[in-house]
Amino acid sequence: MKKSIAVLTSGGDAPGMNAAIRAVVRTGLKNGWDVYGVRNGYRGLINGQFDRMSSRDVGGILQRGGTILGSARCPEFTTVEGRTVAIRNLNRLGIEALVVIGGNGSQAGAHELYKMGFPVVGVASTIDNDLAGTEITIGVDTALNIALEAIDRLKVTASSHQRAFIIEVMGRKCGYLALTAGLAGGAEAITLPEHETDPEEIAEALSLAYAHGKNHALIVAAEGADYNAAKLTEFFKEHRDRLGFSVRSTILGHVQRGGEPGAADRILASKLGCGAVQAIAREEYGVLIGLINNKVTATPYDDMVGKVKELDEELFELARLLD
Ligand code: F6P
Repeated sequence: MKKSIAVLTSGGDAPGMNAAIRAVVRTGLKNGWDVYGVRNGYRGLINGQFDRMSSRDVGGILQRGGTILGSARCPEFTTVEGRTVAIRNLNRLGIEALVVIGGNGSQAGAHELYKMGFPVVGVASTIDNDLAGTEITIGVDTALNIALEAIDRLKVTASSHQRAFIIEVMGRKCGYLALTAGLAGGAEAITLPEHETDPEEIAEALSLAYAHGKNHALIVAAEGADYNAAKLTEFFKEHRDRLGFSVRSTILGHVQRGGEPGAADRILASKLGCGAVQAIAREEYGVLIGLINNKVTATPYDDMVGKVKELDEELFELARLLD
């Protein structure tokens, strides 16, 4: 049956969002449906920024970072009034279902829209990888590789000067990126939002490494950890004499978000984008499309919105074992 659907990207952009848009548009068109792109996330939904998409409109974007549709954080959408305007705009164009590509906040917004009666399907996309209902999100693999490239480079200069580097990676509430970047980058210590940090222990590890003749030390800190780059720098200043190493810090920040998606993110985004359209074809709404046991899976919003994704403690233990 012919349908009319819309797709938007919301929240922090993530490498691979374009590949997901492409998959939604092309799968939708192949089903014979009309597909609209909404500009600038929920803000565009409220302001009525819709464009009919053709297959050519999503040509040449598979390998591009960011999102061609634009994204925004939209406080107005958290209100019933804002969402009512959004639904009115969708209905005016005869749009029957909406695909929301984004992270936790975006999916929580989509859930609210769904509870107001509008058919919604979410696609898991954020560099934080903090969504329950999927093992992996679109964007995190590329962000991790960007962080890793920076870590490897910092290790080179750290070794030349016998310095310790604190490298802060993104992740306000979720330490996945810090943990995996720290493990893959061979960090001496990792700080995470999920664990309490003992800065004394880190200082001790550094002074021991220095005493053993190591010519560098790396600490990967999540931005949301109790000891992020600023807090650790402050602590180390007071304990400068016992560290051995002199300390520098680098905050990677949004650099991690702007990369061209790697193969893993392009493939994941293609699978999940297509999975979202298939869910709409089945009229299965109010679900997040993610990957579980390597299978595209639809998890009901009720089972994942507001849930905290648990840290992989085994991975953390492995990182500690190898530091
Ligand atoms: O949600 C993704 C994320 O990149 C977080 O890791 C980070 O804390 C936040 O977005 C930054 O948000 P903004 O781009 O609005 O500054």
